[in-house]
Amino acid sequence: MRDIGYSLETALADIIDNSITAGATTIDLFTKLDGSDTKVGIVDNGSGMSEEELLTAMRIGSRNPREERPEADLGRFGLGLKTASFSQCRKTTVISRKAGVTVAAIWDLKLVADTDEWIVQMPDNPEELPWVEHLGESGTIVVWEHLDRIIENIDFGPDITNFVERIDDSLAHVELVFHRYLVREGSHPKISIRLNGKDLSPFDPFHSTHPATITGPIEKIKVGDKTVSVQTFTLPHHKKVSTDDWELHAGPAGYVKNQGFYVYRERRLIIHGTWFRLARQTELTKLARVRIDMPNGMDAEWKIDVMKASAQPPRQVRDRLRRIIETIGANSKRVYSGAGTRLVSENKLPVWNRMQNKNEVSYQLNTDHPVLMNFSQKLPEYLRDDYRRILDIAGSGLPVDSLFADFGTDPNGVNVGSTSDDSLFHAVNTIYVHLKNSGMSHEDVITVMEVAEPFRSTWERTEEIISRIIEKDDSNGV
Ligand SMILES: Nc1ncnc2c1ncn2[C@@H]1O[C@H](COP(=O)(O)OP(=O)(O)OP(=O)(O)O)[C@@H](O)[C@H]1O
Ligand SMILES: [Mg+2]
Repeated sequence: MRDIGYSLETALADIIDNSITAGATTIDLFTKLDGSDTKVGIVDNGSGMSEEELLTAMRIGSRNPREERPEADLGRFGLGLKTASFSQCRKTTVISRKAGVTVAAIWDLKLVADTDEWIVQMPDNPEELPWVEHLGESGTIVVWEHLDRIIENIDFGPDITNFVERIDDSLAHVELVFHRYLVREGSHPKISIRLNGKDLSPFDPFHSTHPATITGPIEKIKVGDKTVSVQTFTLPHHKKVSTDDWELHAGPAGYVKNQGFYVYRERRLIIHGTWFRLARQTELTKLARVRIDMPNGMDAEWKIDVMKASAQPPRQVRDRLRRIIETIGANSKRVYSGAGTRLVSENKLPVWNRMQNKNEVSYQLNTDHPVLMNFSQKLPEYLRDDYRRILDIAGSGLPVDSLFADFGTDPNGVNVGSTSDDSLFHAVNTIYVHLKNSGMSHEDVITVMEVAEPFRSTWERTEEIISRIIEKDDSNGV
């Protein structure tokens, strides 16, 4: 049971589930660092349990998974409290207060192993147990001790250097999983979750308050007498958000891995970052995230696991989801390639041409570009073929793979390459004169050059060079 696959973060989330189900409005996580005696405590102000209820709660499989539960109940198996705790520690104490009576019960796996009996201890001094002073009128505390799965070498020289970091990392997961509880949502009150007194802040994976996020309509899918709602979000293109915001919403795994469905059961996130094998996670759809809300009576259909960390959509929902992916795919592609497409279509002076041949795309240097053309015209006849071959090689040698990878990981960090003053001067000069000579007005030339690289990204310098050219022309009486 200790090894059914919980991580620290899924285990914490499972304990928090219980507090939320018990109607808690504040949940306090505490840590006490003390070598091998280091402890974690989760204190809530929920309904609490009587002695009888506590004893039942300590039983493994305390409830029947098939039993219908009230709407706000996040539990299902009657296992979470035990399995989540056992996965992280060898001693679990639950202290609970209800109607003025404080009771406690302990699962100590060492005692269980030593006696070969399933013995739950009931200490008679519950008021002296850790963090009891934080209990209000009613509520529950879960204390994890002997944290052999979190603390390395707990029996021979415990190493707690990573402990705080590991707790912090798991709280990022808690901020995501319970983000809709950490804010007021509709008629649901906001709850607060704190670590050692400091409030956790909700992490909204859809960036739904940002004006550049494209929010789709809510679609309802009926399955029997239950309703699943689906809503699509396309996150803002990186040009529309600050670098910090871009990084934040990328998450540690990055946009590509975090695209996909986000399945919530009673507003609690179960699984995210997957298209359930209905589509692939591609670079082009990386900004797409789809929120799925399901009620708690559909656990069997969705194959919810004990850890509340995986799910599979039922057949009736799959077909609709597939169609939804198609539409959001188109949206996301538009946002994602937005800047690129515009550049190609608006830019009348591309250095590169994008060539599409049926399903193949290739890039070639644009030999009609005034700078290139100008140069080739100056070349003696016998060098022109060589020159053309050089351009061909440069085009076919474009490192598309690595550009794609770099752009995928950090679009803002990809620098288009700086143009030296001398080259820029030469390019501005050639193009300005070339376009003017072709009969365009000054304003039209500016419009064309403004959106063309390398001028677009060096516009200040470019303008300066243009004004110098004009001055020179004026003084020459042209
Ligand atoms: N913080 C708490 N406050 C009040 N009651 C609790 C609390 N934690 C657990 N309980 C009681 O203990 C029972 C067992 O909890 P446990 O997490 O093991 O199972 P569950 O929540 O019913 O289902 P699941 O296995 O899906 O989590 C709960 O059903 C609830 O009645
Ligand atoms: Mg539970």
